Amino acid sequence: MDQRQAKQAAARAAIDLLPESGTLGLGSGSTAKLFIDAVGELVKQGRRFDAVPTSDQSRAQAAALGIPLLDDIGPWEIAVCVDGADEVSQGLDLIKGGGGAHAREKIVNAASRRNVIIVDESKLSQKLGEKWPIPLEILPFGREATARALEKFGQPVLRAKDGAPWITDSGNYLYDLAVSPIDEPGQLDRELRQIPGLVETGLFVGRADTVIVAGEAGIRQLRAE
Ligand code: A5P
Repeated sequence: MDQRQAKQAAARAAIDLLPESGTLGLGSGSTAKLFIDAVGELVKQGRRFDAVPTSDQSRAQAAALGIPLLDDIGPWEIAVCVDGADEVSQGLDLIKGGGGAHAREKIVNAASRRNVIIVDESKLSQKLGEKWPIPLEILPFGREATARALEKFGQPVLRAKDGAPWITDSGNYLYDLAVSPIDEPGQLDRELRQIPGLVETGLFVGRADTVIVAGEAGIRQLRAE
């Protein structure tokens, strides 16, 4: 099973965890994209879902598939949100935001009764920070001052694409904070969120109810205790 097949298998397995009908949270990224395709198939077959997407890209994909979409304002009653992750620790905490969508993803996650994370096994690590820096969404105003404040925690790097800063769907900047493996992700998240100008971190602590992992050994479902 290659990585793409593993992502597909995880996305398909998440379909079995959906209610018969109701509101879904749609994640962002390449694995969530495969899940959204599968939801589109269900809607075509007559299943009555509507959804809250977590990025402009997921919104455009879902709209093209004919999935009814709610507005970006909320509040919503979301039964299940299905999303990917960049890194999953043994304790089922997550790093997200490799696609820069983590601020919206965290809002939708918090509004969902159940959160299902779909990953291939390359995303697993003992401790967060072993494989990925922490994506941070930062307000444009004073961004270099905010970056300076981040240096107490690690090495912040402005994310850029084609030589220009990467701008999020909400018009903000992204910094990726390289850190040592994180012993206390909840504490680090709380400390980072005290920095003025920091909109949201990519640390998702205690926010996954089920993690579906696909790999050579097949599909595993890990559940939060
Ligand atoms: C989007 O910003 C992220 O949080 C994604 O959920 C995460 O990067 C996983 O993406 P892939 O499924 O493409 O690996």
